[in-house]
Amino acid sequence: MRKVLIFGSAGQLGVELVSTFRSAGFQVHPLTRANLDITDAAAVEHHITSIEPDIVVNSAAYNMVDVAEQEPLAAFQVNALAVRHMAVTCRQVDSLLVHFSTDYVFDGTAGRPYTETDAVHPLGAYAVSKLAGESYAQAYLDRVLVLRVSGVFGAAGVRTARSNFPELMLRLADGGKEIRVVEDHVASPSFAPAIAERTLELVNRGILGVVHLGGGTPISWYDWAQMIFRASGRSPQLKATNEREYRTAARRPKYSALANERLATLGITPMPPLEETIEAYMQQRRVYTAAGA
Ligand SMILES: NC(=O)c1ccc[n+]([C@@H]2O[C@H](COP(=O)([O-])OP(=O)(O)OC[C@H]3O[C@@H](n4cnc5c(N)ncnc54)[C@H](OP(=O)(O)O)[C@@H]3O)[C@@H](O)[C@H]2O)c1
Repeated sequence: MRKVLIFGSAGQLGVELVSTFRSAGFQVHPLTRANLDITDAAAVEHHITSIEPDIVVNSAAYNMVDVAEQEPLAAFQVNALAVRHMAVTCRQVDSLLVHFSTDYVFDGTAGRPYTETDAVHPLGAYAVSKLAGESYAQAYLDRVLVLRVSGVFGAAGVRTARSNFPELMLRLADGGKEIRVVEDHVASPSFAPAIAERTLELVNRGILGVVHLGGGTPISWYDWAQMIFRASGRSPQLKATNEREYRTAARRPKYSALANERLATLGITPMPPLEETIEAYMQQRRVYTAAGA
């Protein structure tokens, strides 16, 4: 039975990776932050060398894009140096490393979805740390799969610390006040279960290198908020704003949607349409909410 060790297993993507690899018959070793801090190099080495997994999946990350501008070292330790610890140890035991990265490695000036071969140019501390993580993974390993995703949302976000954009919108809607969302920034929100299924498919096919798993539909955050409200049956007061009016500590790429070019070339199942995934998300979050998660 193939063994997979999953760092970040309590995150919204980690939860889906655990269940997808379990269902596929892998022996899964999930590690949450409570089990292990990935910045602890000795602990990372101990877990990987004692389990000797066929595959190490890293979906743990420092995701606080704006806070990272105040503490760039903290972001770098988790998103870059910890990935180096993993890569160095994967090399020792000959494990495949599957590492998740972000659309924020791009600067958004292309004005069209980014492919795997487009030049990277991160705009802030979080983005630089994630790009450095990709570089460390690729610096030490030939057998590495870097999966770039965008605006991740999975039902476990109902209870995770960082949550996700749909949950933020639903909370604001239930707060009853006017909601302002930028209309001049475009991404391709990726549904966590769909990412996990393609990850399994890519691993089973032995694919290496960088692969984009964008949500399939480039969409502005404003239009995405509208779609979320439609799917949830809510109709709050929603107003469009823009980056000039709505300032954030971190610079963000204006157009960071991902083109899933390699996925198509490789004949991997395409990412599902966003309308379909937000419907599935709403159903799944009801299960989490009913379970008192
Ligand atoms: N969320 C997005 O919109 C988005 C967009 C683009 C790319 N990505 C990438 O997609 C991947 C999955 O993200 P996600 O949405 O699942 O994020 P998430 O829900 O925030 O999960 C990340 C997990 O990493 C854990 N973690 C953070 N620091 C850690 C540390 N030092 N040691 C061990 N665990 C630690 C977190 O624990 P705590 O909750 O206890 O901190 C959390 O369980 C990441 O690589 C992320 O960069 C995400």
